[in-house]
Amino acid sequence: MRRIRSAALLMAAVAFSIQVSRAQSNPSQRVFRLDGGDVTYVAGVNDAGQLQTMYWGERLPAAQEFAPPKPGQGSSSFDMSSNTTPQEFTGWGGGLYVEPDLKVTFPDGNRDLVLKYQSHRVVADGFDVVMKDISREVYVTVQYRIDRETGIVRRSAEVSNRTGAPFLIEQVAGGTYNLPRALNYQLHYVTGRWAGEWDLQQQPVHAGRTVLESRRGTTGSQNNPWIMVDHVGDHDQDTGEVWFAALGWSGSWQISIEQDVVKGVRITGGPNAFDFSYLLKNGETFQTPYFYGGFSSQGVGGASRLLHRFEVDSLLPHAPQPKLRPVLYNSWEATTFNVDEAGQMALADKAASIGVERFVMDDGWFGQRNNDHAGLGDWTVNPQKFPHGLKPLIDKVHSLKMDFGLWVEPEMVNPDSDLYRKHPDWVLNFTGRPRTEGRNQLVLNLARKDVHDYVLQALDKLLNENDIAFLKWDYNRNWSEPGWSAVPVEEQKNVYVDFTRNYYDILEKLRQKHPSVEIESCSGGGSRVDLGVMHLTDEVWPSDNTDAYDRLLLQEGFSYAYSPAVMMAWVTDSPTWVNQRALSLEYRFLSSMQGSLGIGANLNKWTPEDFAKARTMIDVYKGVRETVQRGSLYRLMSPREGEQAVTESVSRDGRQAVIFAFLHSSSQLYPFPRIYLRGLREDAIYKLRVVTGKSEDDTPQSATGAYWMHHGVDVALRGDFQAAMFVLDRQ
Ligand code: GLA
Repeated sequence: MRRIRSAALLMAAVAFSIQVSRAQSNPSQRVFRLDGGDVTYVAGVNDAGQLQTMYWGERLPAAQEFAPPKPGQGSSSFDMSSNTTPQEFTGWGGGLYVEPDLKVTFPDGNRDLVLKYQSHRVVADGFDVVMKDISREVYVTVQYRIDRETGIVRRSAEVSNRTGAPFLIEQVAGGTYNLPRALNYQLHYVTGRWAGEWDLQQQPVHAGRTVLESRRGTTGSQNNPWIMVDHVGDHDQDTGEVWFAALGWSGSWQISIEQDVVKGVRITGGPNAFDFSYLLKNGETFQTPYFYGGFSSQGVGGASRLLHRFEVDSLLPHAPQPKLRPVLYNSWEATTFNVDEAGQMALADKAASIGVERFVMDDGWFGQRNNDHAGLGDWTVNPQKFPHGLKPLIDKVHSLKMDFGLWVEPEMVNPDSDLYRKHPDWVLNFTGRPRTEGRNQLVLNLARKDVHDYVLQALDKLLNENDIAFLKWDYNRNWSEPGWSAVPVEEQKNVYVDFTRNYYDILEKLRQKHPSVEIESCSGGGSRVDLGVMHLTDEVWPSDNTDAYDRLLLQEGFSYAYSPAVMMAWVTDSPTWVNQRALSLEYRFLSSMQGSLGIGANLNKWTPEDFAKARTMIDVYKGVRETVQRGSLYRLMSPREGEQAVTESVSRDGRQAVIFAFLHSSSQLYPFPRIYLRGLREDAIYKLRVVTGKSEDDTPQSATGAYWMHHGVDVALRGDFQAAMFVLDRQ
């Protein structure tokens, strides 16, 4: 295994190149080229000293030369050349009307910033270009790194103040990606809300700017910081050119997609500019969040497979070998706040009996947390519910061969808590103004050092004193009144950046101190899912909506940007609290088995038949989870487009394909459409295993990959909310 990996790495290293063009001595002809996976990215410095995009797309032969980059023609006296040049990183100044990457105000009132090439540096997997303002000592190091396997580029910039005085950053981005001029671009993104996240949207890219954003303090679910652009009419999942971008930032953010006056498209991403500023003192540097960009010529399916691979192999804390997600049980829907030792132990017994590997106690175990009105902030075990601490429960869970996980919501406080009574000044607020509550709670100002230290110390203590393998880290409201009166007025808006940086810092420190502890990012569902938090957590909770049919839609939207390897999915009770929809246990399992399987049902209500069914399904899941979590995902039929939903996951070694098929409702005697598989080897023989459901009678037991892909397979699903699962094993 090790040998194969290093051989693959060697090949990748040969295939990867960063070249600086031969015209090195002439700054006006500096060309930087990155190659990774099937992608080539080229940027260069033009005669005006601007850094501009020269190419981003399908990989080009290494010998391919590029003409020196030329600034765009100004389209008229109304649009100077800087607006038509596809620049990689712009300061706001010199008549720039397109979205800038950096906007500042100097103490003397000057707000003009024009960045020109200064120097560059080639590093192992990328390059840095240093730009400088034409007169002031403001330096920006524009940074590029490429992922060798997927060709995903990581952009960021470091702004450095050597002016001798502080200045205000009023807008800043990781960088801008430019797409070639074209008339038929289409933008894909997701929108959402609590219990309705991951709603996929499509619209033509039109003249002007489309801004996706969160002004909420964290990532939010109203938009997610991910976009994809392809050509209108490219409906095939697996063919066509696609560019995508995703921001690694869990604070307020924005991605601007702008068609300029010559129909070039600029994609700029960073912290949200609304109500934003950051005071950068003399001698300080500001490192922007990472803004990732990728390209696939294999359609939107290919684009998401690249992202999944990147997340699993390069981004997750344990990449390139993150642990497979264990099957977990979570108590929330069963017991809500009514947790106690005996009740949790009884649930643990039942969970272990069906093959669960991790038992997670959710909300209600600490402080005076008997409902959502009190207790947040007091991270000590409630003595009435757990008179002997958590140890007896944890020991019991361990004796059942499961590990133990616990729910926390560290950035929040209920006004009815000891913490708030002691430190009412610790929350985000404007002095003398109301403190708006959400779910009866306020947001601690994590930007403050004392709050940062309190949260870190409370969690560290919890992990030191208890044998905890997993934290479900929740965050159940958005910001209001984002004031920080303890610092000088000109630094108060630093809260937008410092809060998020401290959140990351706590995660990082906890991971260092407790390397085996895994963490889930949850925010009342999927409100804090992005490539920034993913780098520091092991899994995410996509939605509180656990209705297994709704989940098909949510999970599909989620899968465009994020891997099933991090997508937690629980089997919960029927009818669901969400829609009062009744669904069979088998259907609920199959829906959750598309991701990382969990059980969230009230096991106290289950019948012996339910337990038997669950045991079988969990056993099946363990046999396919590597394929589902790590494999290549093909979306064969979309629940958004009809009555059917079908996905296929092909394992990395190509030996297994797992197919989930769902029927919403059949009508007028129509049979289920034929399913054409993908990603198989044409000439290899694959044996069909029907796990649940039924294939049509004339389906062969085994056939070539070519047969399954071109002839296809018919499933015999009829009725409402029916589901089937097949596995193909290569012989
Ligand atoms: C949020 C989470 C739920 C649950 C509750 C507990 O809503 O998304 O899964 O943990 O909080 O209060």
